[in-house]
Amino acid sequence: NQENFILAIESSCDDTSAAVLCNKKVLSNVVATQEIHQKYGGVVPELASRAHQQNIVPVVHQALAQANIDKKQLSAIAFTRGPGLMGSLLVGASFAKSLSLGLAIPLIEVNHMQAHILAHFIEDREQESPDFPFLAMTISGGHTQIVLVKSYFEMEIIGETLDDAVGEAFDKSAKLLGLPYPGGPLIDKYAKLGNEKAFEFPKPKVDGLNFSFSGLKTSILYFIQKKTKENSEFVTENLADICASIQFTILEILMDKLKLAVKQTGVKRIAIGGGVAANSGIRSRLANAEEEFGWKTYIPKFEYCTDNAAMIGIVGHFKFLEKDFAEQNIAAKARYKL
Ligand code: KG4
Ligand code: ZN
Repeated sequence: NQENFILAIESSCDDTSAAVLCNKKVLSNVVATQEIHQKYGGVVPELASRAHQQNIVPVVHQALAQANIDKKQLSAIAFTRGPGLMGSLLVGASFAKSLSLGLAIPLIEVNHMQAHILAHFIEDREQESPDFPFLAMTISGGHTQIVLVKSYFEMEIIGETLDDAVGEAFDKSAKLLGLPYPGGPLIDKYAKLGNEKAFEFPKPKVDGLNFSFSGLKTSILYFIQKKTKENSEFVTENLADICASIQFTILEILMDKLKLAVKQTGVKRIAIGGGVAANSGIRSRLANAEEEFGWKTYIPKFEYCTDNAAMIGIVGHFKFLEKDFAEQNIAAKARYKL
């Protein structure tokens, strides 16, 4: 039962993050969120890579300091190889390679989507890990997937979005309502005050376990245009009801697919992750599903749901045990299949 110390780096999108893990325990998990994208209403890739370049060294120093360990104690460096924005990934990959060379310790490449799933195995007193097999639904601004997880390294994507991610559906709907980016949390907030049955939006007709959210955005756009023509104050006067109805539609879509996934696989353990897992509606529906459908549901702490390096570190830990190391000529991959 040897102790290994992994330094993990995550830079796939707009958060620069570094974490130190000792085996499955998180000693530190520092995340620098880039505020710059807010005024553009979405992530600007070029600005993201520049901000990573500025943030990465201070963030790593902070992670080491908070973990109270010296870099000479590190056993390996894990980094996000993909999927993500190329300019952002390159910053983390280049940094990780240089440090692994400098310290003469192994380099470990990590798939970001696998990390969202294995985040459930971070050892934490508040949080239980699922037994295999389980279904993992990763829902965020960049991803919407249902994965059948058979073991740490055997995963099968059984459903994914054909267009927008679910977080984008929240954010783009919010934008149509004049709410600032990212609008997901605001829709959640106003939805609590509204009637979810006030307005009806069509659910997309997509076969099997795949998702589609681009049609919903369009129907919300037409709905708002029509209503504002009749009453220019329509959105302001009905904000809570509109938000509640949009959220209701999105949650129905997610729950329908989860129910179908359970039916098709017979697996009733459901783990969710990604930023949208913070949504209070999805949380209460999953909590209710334990009674209602006999599911066992797992929701990690919020800090391990959104993009973070601790989840990269837990994959690093499992790969370290397998001695699954990367070569120094490894390249980042914007598209990287699970
Ligand atoms: O995982 P994350 O931080 O970053 C990636 O996109 O990878 O997820 C961010 C997404 C955004 O689309 C944001 O609007 C959404 O998660 N989000 C929420 C809530 N909190 C964050 N969506 C709905 N309700 C929330 N409470
Ligand atoms: Zn992510």
